[in-house]
Amino acid sequence: MTEMNRHSDAPIGVFDSGLGGLTVMREIMRTLPEENIIYFGDTARVPYGSKSRDTIIHYVEQILHFMQEKEVKAIVVACGTASAYALEAVRHKVKVPILGVVRPGVRAASAATKNGRIGVIGTEASVKSGLYESLLHGINPELSVVSRACPLFVPLVEEGLWHDEITTLAAKRYLSELKEKDVDTLIMGCTHYPLLAGTIREVMGEGVNLVNIGVETAQVLKRILNEQGITKKTTDAPAVYRFYSSDAPEKLCRFGESALQMEIPEAARISIEEY
Ligand code: DGL
Repeated sequence: MTEMNRHSDAPIGVFDSGLGGLTVMREIMRTLPEENIIYFGDTARVPYGSKSRDTIIHYVEQILHFMQEKEVKAIVVACGTASAYALEAVRHKVKVPILGVVRPGVRAASAATKNGRIGVIGTEASVKSGLYESLLHGINPELSVVSRACPLFVPLVEEGLWHDEITTLAAKRYLSELKEKDVDTLIMGCTHYPLLAGTIREVMGEGVNLVNIGVETAQVLKRILNEQGITKKTTDAPAVYRFYSSDAPEKLCRFGESALQMEIPEAARISIEEY
């Protein structure tokens, strides 16, 4: 892959398997309100969580080609699954800073826990990767980590059932073991899950720290842009946000309006298979 645009007014590329990465974009918009952002949701191929490692890497490589065409100055893999499986495999192929959501989430959780018991919820693939556990144990081998895949959460989010009794029922079933094990910190290890934070909080109780991996990721991104001297210079020009998806762009607009609390007049459909 050739050199991407390092111009400081170039956009930041943010992508996810679907719409959940918008929760990360929301945090980036809060933390870096002047930055231009390009969002891509691979809505034709979501979910990634049930796919193999090789397939996920192939999808991510195609998305990086798309981001290269858009001349982004930095890339955020706003997907827990793609971060766990593909980030290290593709890092050497891009010439701009690239970061995922797993490591920032792990650091936030290890700093937040008081009783040393941390829960991790994510897609089947993320949980199977064991990456959260191994990174947490790398920071502190004494931590007790309980992980649980919550495969229904992504479709529930994509269906817009953010506050619904079906979602509460699923959450009760998925989270019961984590409650029993008395975790005081829960990593929402999939970027779709912050949209279910209300339900997750209700089931887990007020005393549990819910870690939104996007919040910490936005802070890390801010630091990297500063360190590399590529924060946006023309701060008097309002930020421009552009949205792309591999299917049903109108759904991205509708969903994005609720997730980002802003109007999204248009999103473009691209044929990601051609990249
Ligand atoms: N937002 C993705 C993640 O963070 C959803 C995974 C999926 O596509 O299954 O893992």
